[in-house]
Formats: sequence, structure tokens, C-alpha cells
Amino acid sequence: MYFSFETIPTFVWVFIATYAIYWIKKPRLGKNEPPMVPYKIPIIGHTADYLFNAEKFLAECRQKYGDPFSIYVFGQVNTVAGNEIVHEVYDSENFNLLSATRDVFPLYRVLKSVLDPRTTEQLVKTIREGITSKLPQYTGRMQKQLMISINKEIGDCSSPKLIKTANDNFASMISRPVADVLVGQEIAKNEDVVKAFADFTKDFISIIAIPPILSFIHPKVHAQVITLPLRFGFNPISKHVLTLKKHLKPVLEKRLKDKKILGDEYKPPLDIIEYILNNPEYKTKVITDDYLNKICEFIFIIIVASINTTSRHITCALYDFAGRPELWDDIYEEQAIIDKECNGVLLPQHINKMVKLDSFLRESLRTFDAVAAFPHRSLESHTFKNGMTIPKGRIVQTYLMDVHYNTTAYGPEPKSFLPYHGLENNFSASKTDKNYFIFGSGKHICPGRFFAVNEIKIGMHKLILNYHIKTPSGKIEKKVIYGPLAEPPITGLIFENRKK
Ligand code: HEM
Ligand SMILES: *[C@@H]1O[C@H](CO)[C@@H](O)[C@H](O)[C@H]1NC(C)=O
Ligand SMILES: *[C@@H]1O[C@H](CO)[C@@H](O)[C@H](O)[C@H]1NC(C)=O
Ligand SMILES: *[C@@H]1O[C@H](CO)[C@@H](O)[C@H](O)[C@H]1NC(C)=O
Repeated sequence: MYFSFETIPTFVWVFIATYAIYWIKKPRLGKNEPPMVPYKIPIIGHTADYLFNAEKFLAECRQKYGDPFSIYVFGQVNTVAGNEIVHEVYDSENFNLLSATRDVFPLYRVLKSVLDPRTTEQLVKTIREGITSKLPQYTGRMQKQLMISINKEIGDCSSPKLIKTANDNFASMISRPVADVLVGQEIAKNEDVVKAFADFTKDFISIIAIPPILSFIHPKVHAQVITLPLRFGFNPISKHVLTLKKHLKPVLEKRLKDKKILGDEYKPPLDIIEYILNNPEYKTKVITDDYLNKICEFIFIIIVASINTTSRHITCALYDFAGRPELWDDIYEEQAIIDKECNGVLLPQHINKMVKLDSFLRESLRTFDAVAAFPHRSLESHTFKNGMTIPKGRIVQTYLMDVHYNTTAYGPEPKSFLPYHGLENNFSASKTDKNYFIFGSGKHICPGRFFAVNEIKIGMHKLILNYHIKTPSGKIEKKVIYGPLAEPPITGLIFENRKK
């Protein structure tokens, strides 16, 4: 290796810079903080353990230090809240999910209103009043849309067909019913819009998928760097917004016109854009470009919250089903009886009868295998009931495995798959309780959970009725683990027509 005298000052500078970062970043803990897990390497702290060995690492910490404890990852102190303490985080207005994720998932760069707390309020209200309370009326439309997707994407499997899931985890299957509910039956027919919905989150993630190495210096530095392409005008998201705008405009204009002409005779279509048009805050006489932008932004925030999550979990549930032959007959039988009863057209009461499927889904959601997720940031310093205090700005991770793999609630083998636990205990898939946190809890509990669970149940019902579903290995396929997070397996699933 060629070594010159000029390289020596470089080494010195690197050394000084590292040392400076070390001093600046050295975690300083206040009084009565949760115990800090000791670490050996400065700056790096527990980052490696957290990235490559999260399950074992956190389990050991939990055992040694109790609940909660703090660790040092990517240059920040994170407090890890388990089963005993995490409820306090979710029940308090002092903790915020969006604020905790804005540096690694800077959605506000493309959808500016997302950081406005009033937007969240509007979203939750819209989802509750416009989707959840209308779910029974959407049942027919959702199953039609899901059948279109199933026929298109899986289709005839008279001989076994391997369907790859790795690309989008059935996001396009989910985006059709979502489009139908959000932007109405007419626009949902448009393949470009369905594709824009399916791809939006994926394309957004593709620009920001850089490990937060620069967070060692400061999370804001990471946020600045990953959003550079956006700020230089490279924005793969904007084409999706344009697609929606183009198709939304004539429909909104027609509705305004019809309303004016028909007056009380106007029959409002059931969908979210109609809900928005009738919202006093969104009242308008003309559809201006600004107005369209505002609505599109709102719709895409719902898309980000709904499609990636729902498609991830229908995919996991299908893998969970495919890998467990011992459950096939029992769950198929329930679907076949319901199908016969409703003659192939599900009504809301039939969805309520899918109790085994619901219980199975709950178990799939519980055993999702994310170790820690849903970070929340404290907006003010906070003292827990046990007297421990954390400062303002602290990230608190939800130790999901500690919540979900609790022996009191799920018996001596809490990690095993208990398909009928929900059924036997009268817990439905959308019902949060202290040992089931997949939809969060407390004040900010996911308002879309009933919609998501309905979609997944209708989708699985139809898939199980139409196909035998197997894994390529014939066994349970492993999830893909990213640090403390989990994603569905990527082996693909084998579909084969069921003979009727
Ligand atoms: C299986 C699918 C889904 C999962 C696992 C999921 C999970 C979650 C979780 C964990 C939270 C945070 C709760 C908290 O901070 O306490 C959340 C919030 C939220 N979810 Fe979902 N979600 C799903 C589907 C959906 C769907 C379909 C929609 C929209 C129709 C939606 C809309 C939202 C919104 C708007 C919030 C923010 C609520 C607030 O801050 O008050 N989610 N979701
Ligand atoms: C959801 O987002 C993750 C990254 O957070 C990505 O890896 C995954 O492919 C996405 N899933 C779907 C179904 O789009
Ligand atoms: C299981 O969870 C409950 C409720 O949060 C808690 O009271 C109990 O101590 C937990 N059991 C164990 C073994 O951690
Ligand atoms: C099951 O739970 C639901 C709501 O959570 C409740 O309305 C119902 O009465 C419960 N049924 C039984 C048998 O406990």
C-alpha cells in the first residue's frame, strides 16, 4: 500500500473527528432514567446487536434489566418498553408515532400536510365515519374487487402455479378494494390508478431505503441526505399523484354539477371522495388545481397507512395457512359452509360467521415476529408510574415480542401458533388487548383495523375456496428479518384449483 506523508494528517483528522463525535454523542442520562444497558464500543453502542441479533439481545436485556430499559443504537438512546410499561406510552398524549418516524420515513417531504396534527384528526374521523361505520355497505363491492384481482393475478391454476410474492406482497390485490372505497367505483376501474395506489409506498421507500448510518452523527443528517434526490427534483412519487389527479378531476367536476342540477334528488355515491366533498372544510364550487392537490394528498396519506400494512399481513396469513396442512380442512370447511349459505355473495353477517378464519388471522398477526416496532417519541419529558423518567425527544420502541409472547396470556409456549386461541377466548382479530398490539392501543389505535381485517378475511375466504395453497417446501416458510423488523417470506406460494 502506498503511504505518503499527506495521508498522516488525514488519519489525524479522522481520529479527531471520531473523538469529537464520540464526545458530542456520548449519551448523557438524567436522573431516574430506565437502566441503560452497558456497551463496549463507543458510538456504535448496541447497534450491531440490534441489527443482527435483536430477538436474543432484547430478551437478555429484558431479563437482566427489567422493563423498561434503554439501549444505544445509531447514535441515539432508545428506551425499549415491554409488556409492563408500554400501555402507558400508548395511553398518553405525550407520545407520538409520526414524530418518531419522520427522520427515517420522511413522508412529509412529499405529502406536506402529514405533520399537521389536524391532518391526523381529519384522517381518523374520515376513516371512522366514512369507512368503518359503512363497512357493511362496502362488503359487496370489496368482494367484487378482490375477485377481479384474484382472477387477474392468480387466475386458472389447473396445474399448480408458483405465485411470486416478493415483489409486492399482493399490494395490487389490496389496492383494488381500497381504490373502490376511497375514490369510488368509477375511478377504481382504472388500472393506472390501481397501480399508482399499489406502487406509491414501494416507490417512496425505494428512494429512502438507506440504512441510517449518518444518524450516528445526527438523525437530522440522515433525514437531509435521504431526501436529497427529492429536493433535486427526482421524485418517482409525483407521477402517481398526477395519475390520480387526472382521473379525479372529471369525476369531482361531474359530481359538483350533478349536485347543482339535481339538488335534493342527487344520490350521493358511497366513497371517501364524496365524504370529503361534503366536509365543510373541503366545500368548494370549482375544482381548482390546489383543491385537487389537497384531496390527492389526503388520499395518498390513507394509501400509505393502508396498503403496505394490509398487503403485508394478508401475505403473512397466506404463508401461515399454506405452511400448516393440519388446518386446511377445518378452515376450508368453514368457508365452504358460508359460501353455500350465501350462494357466493357475502353479506356482512357471513363475514361475522368466519370465526375460525378470524381467529386464525389474529394468530397470524400476533406471531408476526417483529421484535420491536412502532417507535414513539416523547413530546415532553415523561415520568412513568414506576417513577422512571425519560427526557423530551426520547424514542420509545414497542417491544412487540414481549407483549405478544406473554406466557400468562398465551400459555407456556407463547411462540407457537395457536389458531383457535381467539375463538376460544372471544378475541377477534381487530380487537386490541393488553397482549395484542398489532394495531397499537389507546388514543391512537389504528382506525383502519376493521377495514383491514375485513379485506383480509374476504380475500382469504375467496382464495381458500378456490385454491389449494401450499408452500414450495411443504413446510412453514421463514419470515425475512430486518433488524428488529419482520417482512413476509419470499419463497412464493403454490396455488392449485380446488375441484368443486
Ligand atoms: C393489517 C393492517 C394494519 C396494521 C397492522 C396497522 C397498524 C397500525 C398501528 C400499529 C398504528 C399506530 C397506533 C398507535 O400509534 O398507537 C396505526 C395507526 C394508523 N393506521 Fe393502521 N394499520 C393497518 C391498516 C390500516 C388501514 C387499512 C388504514 C386506513 C384505512 C390505517 C390507518 C391508520 C391511521 C390513519 C393511523 C394513525 C392513527 C392516529 O395516529 O391516531 N391503518 N396502524
Ligand atoms: C412495505 O414496506 C417495506 C419497507 O418498509 C418493503 O420492504 C415492502 O416490500 C413493502 N411491502 C409491500 C407489500 O409493499
Ligand atoms: C403478561 O401480561 C400481563 C398483562 O400485561 C402481565 O400482568 C403479566 O405479568 C405478563 N406475564 C408475564 C409472564 O410477563
Ligand atoms: C364476545 O365479545 C363481544 C365483544 O367483544 C361481546 O359483545 C360478546 O358478548 C362476547 N361473547 C361472549 C360469549 O363472551
